[in-house]
Amino acid sequence: MSATTESGLPIEPVYGPEALDGWDPDTKLGEPGAYPFTRGVYPNMYTGRPWTMRQYAGFGTAAESNRRYHQLVEAGTGGLSVAFDLPTQMGFDSDAALVKGEVGKVGVAIDSIEDMRTLFDGIPLDQVSTSMTINAPAALLLLLYELVGAEQGVAGDKLTGTIQNDVLKEYIARGTYIFPPAASLRLVSDIFAYCRRELPRWNMISISGYHMAEAGANPAQEVAFTLANAKEYVRAALSAGLEVDEFAPRLSFFFVSRTSFLEEVAKFRAARRIWAQMMRDEFGAKNPKSQMLRFHTQTAGVQLTAQQPEVNLVRVAVQAMAAVLGGTQSLHTNAYDEAIALPTEKAARLALRTQQVLAHETDITRTVDPFAGSYAVESMTDDLEEAARDLMRQVDDLGGAVAAIERGFQKQEIERSAYAVAQEIDHGDRVVVGVNRYNSDGEEPYEPLRVDPELEAQQIERLARVRESRSAADVERCLGALRDAAAGKANVMDPMREALAARATVGEVCDALRETWGVYQPPSTL
Ligand code: 3HC
Repeated sequence: MSATTESGLPIEPVYGPEALDGWDPDTKLGEPGAYPFTRGVYPNMYTGRPWTMRQYAGFGTAAESNRRYHQLVEAGTGGLSVAFDLPTQMGFDSDAALVKGEVGKVGVAIDSIEDMRTLFDGIPLDQVSTSMTINAPAALLLLLYELVGAEQGVAGDKLTGTIQNDVLKEYIARGTYIFPPAASLRLVSDIFAYCRRELPRWNMISISGYHMAEAGANPAQEVAFTLANAKEYVRAALSAGLEVDEFAPRLSFFFVSRTSFLEEVAKFRAARRIWAQMMRDEFGAKNPKSQMLRFHTQTAGVQLTAQQPEVNLVRVAVQAMAAVLGGTQSLHTNAYDEAIALPTEKAARLALRTQQVLAHETDITRTVDPFAGSYAVESMTDDLEEAARDLMRQVDDLGGAVAAIERGFQKQEIERSAYAVAQEIDHGDRVVVGVNRYNSDGEEPYEPLRVDPELEAQQIERLARVRESRSAADVERCLGALRDAAAGKANVMDPMREALAARATVGEVCDALRETWGVYQPPSTL
């Protein structure tokens, strides 16, 4: 086993009392629910309320996803988490030539308010919290959610949930961006201001390290590049005239949890401490809620194997336990078959059961942050904090996250880490059970979930009916008002909501913004 951690930091075969020489619990730890929140963001953590079991799901048409959400709620999931298909994520309608074959594939197809209404049919939006993994068009899906809530009689200040709304990480990894950085940051600030006014309980951004980690970022890079992006969003909101304690309490985060258990626990603790100190000392946040790093975790998709898929149940359990012992607020456990296809209902239920075993059959919810004071984990927490801070300084020296993105800095650092891991696996220096060691043949055949091949045609038909049955003049008037707001300084959210209410489509609204703001072109150096 390597003498270094995933982040390339030393890991000692034995840690003794000397590892914590000079280590001051008052400054390093604090009390649970108090600055610097190393031990967790709430005083009683899971002894008061377990984390939210929030399984990411969505595929095909809104009606199919609605059925899966009802299954998940009946199986005991605590919160919803919507996966959108790529056309929706990229702001195109299902009938756009560019997206043929992608409709409903990696998530649910949402073209208009009619699909959003179907997606939440029979789900009381005042009783669930819903996460939506949507970035460039996050504003549209948030407004569609608010409009459907209003149709259910639920006022905006009763809606709870999160939009990911983190486009900076899309430029670095994953790639579902639309507009150039400046326009994206303006839209993020408009959303912040709108949520403060209309949706005060909504977490208006989920600043994500997960996708950078899945692209190869090691734990120190994941923390550093995520918090550097967060810093850029805070600066954008401040320059838009918002006060830090007006929006910071509703910032949230999203990290991966890998099988490297101890380092992951240390990672979450280090991230909370860095964020608390930065918000208090660099941005002058006074409200403790502005200093709390509240986060969602998803177990590591890249560590799932297609070979011997049942072994993934063990990996996911270990990763989930690391997230819980690291103090996560919300958790998605991957299904064991996801390296092969969309999860079957049985696999999705097993993934949730994994969380329920951790919450109800183990004792890890009975006491807060049991690793506090551990020679090993506290040393690893300190080392990770230092490494992450060093990387954050490098990003700052380049002029901040956006400037670093435009030089390809984060992308190159992540690709370097990814290449090193791939080499270790290829050379057998890094064991992946069932892949490069302990292979077994004669495995039972696996039946993947089949997605209806007719769904694309069905969705395009629904979309045509929306266009036929609405007032084209109303839609055009609303889109014109949206273009005017986007070209000026006014908050685009109100005209955008009017357009969506008039049944303008996701593609039409995004096209109006594309025409006004342009589309991001990655630097040719990448
Ligand atoms: N003591 C006191 N209060 C407590 C408590 C405790 N022990 N535990 C919880 N609470 C309170 C909280 O204060 C909160 O109340 P509030 O809203 O009035 O402040 C309420 O109970 C709910 O608790 P949390 O806010 O901690 O939990 P949530 O689950 O509601 O929110 C979150 C968690 C991280 C803040 C939120 O942003 C969230 O749910 N994020 C989810 C993001 C997500 O699911 N992303 C999916 C991404 S999938 C993807 O990207 C693509 C794929 O390819 C990976």
